[in-house]
Amino acid sequence: IPVDPFDIVIFGGTGDLSRRKLLPALYHRWLDGQIPASSCVVGTARSEMTSEEYRAMAKEACKTASGDSWDANAWGKFEKLIHYVSIDATAEDADWKTLKSHLTEDPARPCVFYLATSPRLYVDICEALGTVGLSSGNTRVVLEKPIGTDLESARAINDGVGAVFAERQVFRIDHYLGKETVQNLMVLRFGNMLFEPLWSRNYIDHVQITVAENLGLEGRADYYDKSGALRDMVQNHLLQLLCLTAMEAPNHLDDDDVRTEKIKVLNALVPITGDAAKRQTVRGQYKAGVQGDKPVKGYLDELSSDEESSTETFVAIKAQIDNWRWAGVPFYLRTGKRMAHRHSDIVINFKHVPHSLFGEGNDIANRLVIRLQPDEGVRLFVQIKEPGPGGLRVKSLPLNLSYAESFTVRYPDAYERLLMDVVRGNLSLFMRKDEVEAAWRWVDGLIEAWEASGEKPEAYAAGTDGPLAAAMMMDRDGRKWWEGS
Ligand code: BG6
Repeated sequence: IPVDPFDIVIFGGTGDLSRRKLLPALYHRWLDGQIPASSCVVGTARSEMTSEEYRAMAKEACKTASGDSWDANAWGKFEKLIHYVSIDATAEDADWKTLKSHLTEDPARPCVFYLATSPRLYVDICEALGTVGLSSGNTRVVLEKPIGTDLESARAINDGVGAVFAERQVFRIDHYLGKETVQNLMVLRFGNMLFEPLWSRNYIDHVQITVAENLGLEGRADYYDKSGALRDMVQNHLLQLLCLTAMEAPNHLDDDDVRTEKIKVLNALVPITGDAAKRQTVRGQYKAGVQGDKPVKGYLDELSSDEESSTETFVAIKAQIDNWRWAGVPFYLRTGKRMAHRHSDIVINFKHVPHSLFGEGNDIANRLVIRLQPDEGVRLFVQIKEPGPGGLRVKSLPLNLSYAESFTVRYPDAYERLLMDVVRGNLSLFMRKDEVEAAWRWVDGLIEAWEASGEKPEAYAAGTDGPLAAAMMMDRDGRKWWEGS
């Protein structure tokens, strides 16, 4: 269904995110007929460039991102929507007049300001937009993660942006919420009678959430070294996955119903502070190793300076949610760069049957594996009798739902869905102010505990499953990580 005609201004329009994600996402929505031809896309950045040059850059970016689905004819029409304005949005003499000349001055028409810049500029850009009269009407501002580096800086951004834009105009993106398989989580949980009665401490032993990447720093060393895996991945993506897995059913899918349920989960997370951090968390940093059959550099060698760094590229956490449904059920979170292979899974491990009839080795618990990427799908491991005349042997095999086998459609990139939601004004897949702050509050406690202990991250070889300590943390609890086989 086409959206209403809209204007979008991308600050940081020449940057990596714009080229890899935002422009290709808009192009694909155009290809699908969702963007009306009277819409307008304005890229802005400080560098001088003509609209022609910007279109050429955008074309290359969209071509690279599209692969086989590149359509030169469609591009020829789409590029007419694209313009470029050179502007230093935070400078006194910024050229707002030229930018405004591209925008339709209709207060009912959606106008999106996408801040794909450093978060340090968010407040300044919003203040400037307010001063030049661009914050009223049907305008929205989109903030990319990271929103701050801790609770205090996140609050400063939220308050500064909030002084100009009302909360309903602010769209804080977490691109994991735009992924097909992440959205499917809610359908799986709340569209099936089967799971809900079992979805609690009564039947679930523990939950594992893993986002394992095989990538290294990909040229983002400066950002990453100040951030680390906890801030880069856990504060946002993994906690969002945890919320969707653990939350109560919302009354409706309306924005605030879903977001309110997620915040309740965040507020029920037991703080991990002091000595608990030693028992319940593991930090790792990759050293040189072999990935596939290629040797890869260690983390420190990827940094531009020769300095030592204690930034973690891997983290494993045993989290607890202190509420009626989940008391006593550990949620093990794990994410890392340069791991053995790329896989993101939510694994629900059920309890054992109360009384084992089939003898030793034959009491295997059910397991629901929700594969977010790659090879998207859902597998429910059930116990069956291994055929044969010998003794009774029980085997655990999956009922297998593979997206690739069930659907032949192209999966839109997360940004496609999210950008169209911004245009429609649908906030449900975006984070509310208090949601971001609740996540930081929990993460801050952990960072404080790590800093107080002064311990360095444990080394792990690139191309492996992370530090041994992460396996030992599970072993102490008599459990094992699911390695996605
Ligand atoms: C980003 C992180 O938010 O998510 C990156 O900053 C990470 O470090 C990326 O690589 C992972 O996203 P995806 O969609 O590739 O799983």
